[in-house]
Amino acid sequence: MAKNFYITTPIYYPSAKPHMGHAYSSIIADFFARFKKIDGFDVNFLTGTDEHGLKIQRAAEKKGVDTLKFCDEISKTFRDLSKTLNLTNTDFIRTTENRHKKSVQNLWEKLEQNDNIYLSKYSGWYSVSDEAFYSEEEIEEFDGNKLAKLSKSPVEWVDEESYFFKLSKWEKPLLDYYEKNPDFIAPKARKNEVISFVKSGLKDLSISRKSFSWGIPVPGNDEHVIYVWLDALTNYISALNYPETKDEIYEKYWPADIHLIGKDILRFHAIYWPAFLLAAKIPLPKKVYGHGWILSGDEKMSKSKGNILDPIEIIDQYGLDPLRYYLIKEVSFGNDGNISQTRLEDCINSDLANNFGNLCQRVTAFAIKNCEGKIPSNIEFNNDDLKILDKFKNNLDLIRDKIDKLDLNFYIEFIVNSLFETNKYFNDQEPWNKKDDIKRLNTIVYTTLEIVRKISFMLYPIIPQSSLNALKIFSIKENEINYTSISNNEYLLNGNTINKIDILFKKIEKKND
Ligand code: ME8
Ligand code: MG
Repeated sequence: MAKNFYITTPIYYPSAKPHMGHAYSSIIADFFARFKKIDGFDVNFLTGTDEHGLKIQRAAEKKGVDTLKFCDEISKTFRDLSKTLNLTNTDFIRTTENRHKKSVQNLWEKLEQNDNIYLSKYSGWYSVSDEAFYSEEEIEEFDGNKLAKLSKSPVEWVDEESYFFKLSKWEKPLLDYYEKNPDFIAPKARKNEVISFVKSGLKDLSISRKSFSWGIPVPGNDEHVIYVWLDALTNYISALNYPETKDEIYEKYWPADIHLIGKDILRFHAIYWPAFLLAAKIPLPKKVYGHGWILSGDEKMSKSKGNILDPIEIIDQYGLDPLRYYLIKEVSFGNDGNISQTRLEDCINSDLANNFGNLCQRVTAFAIKNCEGKIPSNIEFNNDDLKILDKFKNNLDLIRDKIDKLDLNFYIEFIVNSLFETNKYFNDQEPWNKKDDIKRLNTIVYTTLEIVRKISFMLYPIIPQSSLNALKIFSIKENEINYTSISNNEYLLNGNTINKIDILFKKIEKKND
């Protein structure tokens, strides 16, 4: 069986520079990409920027800059952020690129050929901030302003000629699809929301705009630009050279394994996108996962609310891996989560510095002193050792399975528990009192080192640089990290040198400690 894996993040609006919410989605996607990579998959990992539409045009106008120049500049800050976050993305797509425009126009033509498009007139509400059309029932009035109930973003009235996509005719096929593919939308609560929305009836969708020009022209009628969501969603296949469906990259990676998104854009990914694909006779992605929001206070962190936390500032202050660890561990995946500097500092001190960093230092220092700085030979595992070692072997497939279900919380809990147990094991076994039983001393050291190795492998998708720093103990290089090998209890070779390493995480001095 081909082991290919394709994961995507949303392509972000370059209307303002990236914030913690964007960093969050990207880091989570990178976690899955790295895990699959060390599990032997060929991984394609796509991120990028969504550059057309009125939202971007207005943001550029407000700054008084040429729209494309504006996009160039902010898109670059997203691209730079990918590097700062140490993402392993294999591509970065911009919807203003030609490769993308061609794909979108081709998809439009397919929809047209299959009789899914007609010209009419749109009269209704539109939110520029969400780039979404809303029905009367989805609007509320607040302080004399009309807002979208869900996002609280302002809406304006639109009255213009528009092409429509026959979304209504896909209502039944979509419901059938959800039923036949129960894992298509996750988490479950989100899936139920989508299903009830579809069941409440789908109206045809306006898919072009005539009153502005910042977009991809409708083939055959350049008075219209294509609706920015139809444009944006296509990025997932335009990055694979669509419509060149015989190209290796397309054959290898489409349909995507996971579109990872925030729950704010579930409707577009779980209803519109699959409907477009069904209509164009293109296979559907395997899974759409709508994660929760990073909150600031009780509200969604967002640039339009002005309550954002800058990932760069946090990284400058604490380092990247602590932030990655914190976001992966503390924001319970699938739910909303508040982030706080206090909790981040606690994570660094207790999980990273004490539980992991300190374990690495302690066992290496002990081994350098008592085992001639070499991986000990002459060992014999007893039940205590095997109990802690075999946990990895025994859970190897379960962990894989949890990852396929995107159960990130299980993965991180497994690591946290293992770290706790290993520290306890080392303490309880008291190797420092075994100097007259060298075989036992050696075995305890070997076991602990072996677990440090296993845990470092498992930490690689979460805190890649720190994992590599820890693996310097054994001179293990990045390309040697392999998930399956955590089931091997004798991976470390007797006699190999043990290297002293630098402190992995500096503890944060807390003012009120
Ligand atoms: O919606 N918490 O772009 P966008 C968690 N261009 N994640 C958050 C977040 C928060 N507070 N804020 C943003 C768009 N995100 C479209 C997408 S895709 C074909 C087009 C993350 O810049 C989350 O993934 O508004 C959310 O779905 C995405 O950024 C929205 O980014
Ligand atoms: Mg948004």
